[in-house]
Amino acid sequence: MKLENFVDRTGEMRRFEEMLSRDAPSVMVVWGDSGMGKTSLLAKMVHRVSAQGLKKIEIVWTDTRNYDFLGIMRKCRDDLGAAHFEAFTRETNRATSAVEFHVKVEGDIHMFNGASIRNSQIGDVTAIAIRDNMFNLPAESQSRASERMMLLTDAFFSDLAAYLATVGKPVVLFLDAVEKMSAESRQWLWGELLATIRDDRLRGLKVVTCGREKPERSRDFDDTVDEAELGPLGTEDVCDYLQSRGITANTRELAAMLIAARGSKPVDVATAVDAYLRSRPQTPP
Ligand SMILES: Nc1ncnc2c1ncn2[C@@H]1O[C@H](COP(=O)(O)OP(=O)(O)O)[C@@H](O)[C@H]1O
Ligand SMILES: [Mg+2]
Repeated sequence: MKLENFVDRTGEMRRFEEMLSRDAPSVMVVWGDSGMGKTSLLAKMVHRVSAQGLKKIEIVWTDTRNYDFLGIMRKCRDDLGAAHFEAFTRETNRATSAVEFHVKVEGDIHMFNGASIRNSQIGDVTAIAIRDNMFNLPAESQSRASERMMLLTDAFFSDLAAYLATVGKPVVLFLDAVEKMSAESRQWLWGELLATIRDDRLRGLKVVTCGREKPERSRDFDDTVDEAELGPLGTEDVCDYLQSRGITANTRELAAMLIAARGSKPVDVATAVDAYLRSRPQTPP
């Protein structure tokens, strides 16, 4: 979407601005159907934040990029600058350091006994397969995994809180397509990150999440979360949109016809206008 064609969502943008200027902990939760304009609204917010010279982090879930809690923290670190996250990086390295293998071979190994290989070239025999290996890796127990998660998370929060205190301006974390998140990641997001914001221990961090469904959350968040459901565009907004696309004659009439025929979900309006502009005879310059 081109920003110059962006219309409507003034209420949502106003609430976003308010969130930035507010001292109190705040999270904005946006939801709406596919094509209702969540990613476009986020792009508008990102633009606003950049224009104000504020720091931001953008995380978009896709089928191939499914951030878990560690992925979310790493993306924050990388976008804000690794230098500010030394404790977290140290903890990550400790937790994920490679397991060392010492392979000891017992008994004789026979290879190619009596075999002859004709017309072969160097590289034909490329590897020795180890069959029935007997490596016993200790499975990470549930309690160890959650202990690791807590250590990493605490290190991350303390680095992030220190960073936020030094910048002294809001830092915005944008999360898009959160419906693709795993249940575990969602649990971490609400139970750890957003809960820590709610408890005012990450002052300055503002979060906007966009997803298809209205998230279920506990009442503890009532004072922290601002919820916004995106709906279809109004007639005026469709008129504005047509004009921004260069359709300046009979705008009202065309908007009314478009809405009657296709409704006013932004993606449907945009698709109809694309088709109309393609079909319209080119006016000579
Ligand atoms: N506020 C808007 N103003 C103008 N066009 C919009 C707006 N919101 C959405 N659109 C159009 O609809 C399309 C789909 O919107 P998108 O933001 O990708 O929806 P979602 O992320 O909710 O699936 C965009 O590519 C754009 O053409
Ligand atoms: Mg989207």
